[in-house]
Amino acid sequence: MASNKRKTMADKADRHELYQAAVQNPDFELDFIDETFEELTGRAAHSMREDFCGTAISSTSWVTRRDANTAIAVDIDPEVLAWAEEHNVAALTADQRSRLEIVRADVREVKTEKLDVIQAYNFSYWFFQERSIMLDYFRRVRESLVDDGLLFLDVFGGSECYQTQKEKRKLDGFKYIWEQAEFNAITNELKCHIHFHFPDKSKMKKAFSYTWRVWGARELREILAEAGFSEAIVYRQKFDPKTDEALDEYIATDDAEDYACWLGYIVARP
Ligand SMILES: C[S@@+](CC[C@H](N)C(=O)[O-])C[C@H]1O[C@@H](n2cnc3c(N)ncnc32)[C@H](O)[C@@H]1O
Repeated sequence: MASNKRKTMADKADRHELYQAAVQNPDFELDFIDETFEELTGRAAHSMREDFCGTAISSTSWVTRRDANTAIAVDIDPEVLAWAEEHNVAALTADQRSRLEIVRADVREVKTEKLDVIQAYNFSYWFFQERSIMLDYFRRVRESLVDDGLLFLDVFGGSECYQTQKEKRKLDGFKYIWEQAEFNAITNELKCHIHFHFPDKSKMKKAFSYTWRVWGARELREILAEAGFSEAIVYRQKFDPKTDEALDEYIATDDAEDYACWLGYIVARP
């Protein structure tokens, strides 16, 4: 066995910790949920289900936010749920823990009480490539929301999602690489990987891999309508008009120029 001294930074790194640091921003995402929910319903949200929860960081942050908040975090993978328990759930107080349920299940089959908010973030619902499966998932979500509940999805678009490319970002102690490795221009199937590179030149290649269908906002809205949602609002990332730089601000609009890459949310109400 290699001694700890000979281990590289990649050997010693924890892929879930790196993922959380590089990809997730629960405070920003929950602020968006809180503000949008209040604006659209006139009240505060309390119960939330986090579909495709991974490390459940959003759910653990949610129960920490307000004493009345409850969360159900759903994922199919026992490995990531064990990590969630050991790292994120373990950091909660007993009271916060009592308001959180971790459920190992397929989101297409899970049965839960009716909730104020269901969120499916980081494009995980794009694992569903068949329209009929997406429709069935949205129908089940619709049935699991209270009358004034809201579904929050994220979405991206623009010409760059239909091509292979690599995007690198330097973070504290490592580099994050997002690779769109293969795109099928007929089926819209996109194969992507997340790699991490370290200052000692070691690499964690394909730390995470996903095969998604690139869905368009318009088609998703059509499927949401078919699933019984009365409205699906697209919130598009704003861009600095002078520099074209993407801003951390999202506006409800159907106006979109020919952006090379835009990020957004779809918020759907029953
Ligand atoms: C990209 S991670 C998303 C993590 C987190 N939601 C985020 O915003 O970063 C995708 C997660 O979806 C889970 N997953 C994939 N298919 C699923 C399904 N049918 N039901 C439940 N979880 C699923 C995987 O196990 C994985 O943890």
